[in-house]
Amino acid sequence: MPSTLDDATLRAAQAAAAAAKRAGVTVTALTDVSGARLAARLFAAIWGTAPREPISAEAVRALAHAGNYVSGAWVGDELVGASVAFFGRDHESWILHSHISGVAPGAQRAGTGFALKQHQRAWALERGISEIIWTFDPLIRRNAWFNLVKLGAVAVSYHADFYGPMEDGINAGNPSDRCLVRWHLHTAKAVAASVGPWPDPGEADGLGPGSTVLLEADSDGNPVLVGPYLARSAGPLLCRVPADIEALRDTAPARADAWRQAFPGTVGAALADGFVAGAITRDGWYVLTRDHQEDAAG
Ligand SMILES: CC(C)(COP(=O)(O)OP(=O)(O)OC[C@H]1O[C@@H](n2cnc3c(N)ncnc32)[C@H](O)[C@@H]1OP(=O)(O)O)[C@@H](O)C(=O)NCCC(=O)NCCS
Repeated sequence: MPSTLDDATLRAAQAAAAAAKRAGVTVTALTDVSGARLAARLFAAIWGTAPREPISAEAVRALAHAGNYVSGAWVGDELVGASVAFFGRDHESWILHSHISGVAPGAQRAGTGFALKQHQRAWALERGISEIIWTFDPLIRRNAWFNLVKLGAVAVSYHADFYGPMEDGINAGNPSDRCLVRWHLHTAKAVAASVGPWPDPGEADGLGPGSTVLLEADSDGNPVLVGPYLARSAGPLLCRVPADIEALRDTAPARADAWRQAFPGTVGAALADGFVAGAITRDGWYVLTRDHQEDAAG
């Protein structure tokens, strides 16, 4: 770690501290055996895999010991959230791959996940890392909102069945289709998102003239492919996701699967052709635009 921190890194640390304060948590590195065990047990509770752990306590401990990112969010002496990320290479650059981040079900939606990710961002910047990547299920609208709007990341590619079959309570029974997100930590978007506010892109930018709808929902909530992906379209392209795919997977699995099948030829095809999904509206429209060099905020 450098002995003096630049302005961007200091601001990131301040944003992380403010986010933790707002959420009422203390975020610390989990370096010892007991921290690793608590984190692994918490992930098992969140993903409903107990007694099996989605990542073993031994692996968490080894990753921390080797200098990777392992942190936890505490309320008093209770661990309510945790995040594990490891170093990787992307072309010529070192990056961080965020493998798993979760907040205890009873503690969600109170800003803890945001505080953990801002801590992760500041930690990475302190080590000269300017990009964090991870995968997420693009059909889960609230995760898309969290990643693209609250954090300021962009979805850049689509991967059918990325992990193969998964057995945990969140993913069992569904192919693990994922989008890869890139969180460019220095962009104006990421800097602005680190402090908020987080306006709904649907209201802030409007989705009007010039945009092409590829995927929408009918009045019964079924996916409707409006047109094949238009390779020459300049965009923006709009693709809808249902409000709660996880509930649909339980109550209407055929409809949930129809949504899954609608994605490769729309969102997936556009991402493969150089579009990125940099926003999602509150009411579930992904906004895809041609990739562009994001402005660096320094
Ligand atoms: C995703 C997760 C880490 C977010 O942590 P959190 O503490 O609930 O999130 P925050 O309170 O900081 O932020 C919540 C925002 O994220 C969105 N969000 C994402 N997942 C959510 C969830 N399961 N419950 C509630 N909000 C969720 C909300 O829209 C909310 O935005 P808003 O406040 O503008 O409405 C957490 O909900 C979780 O552990 N979910 C289950 C595991 C998971 O999906 N992990 C991430 C894989 S990419």
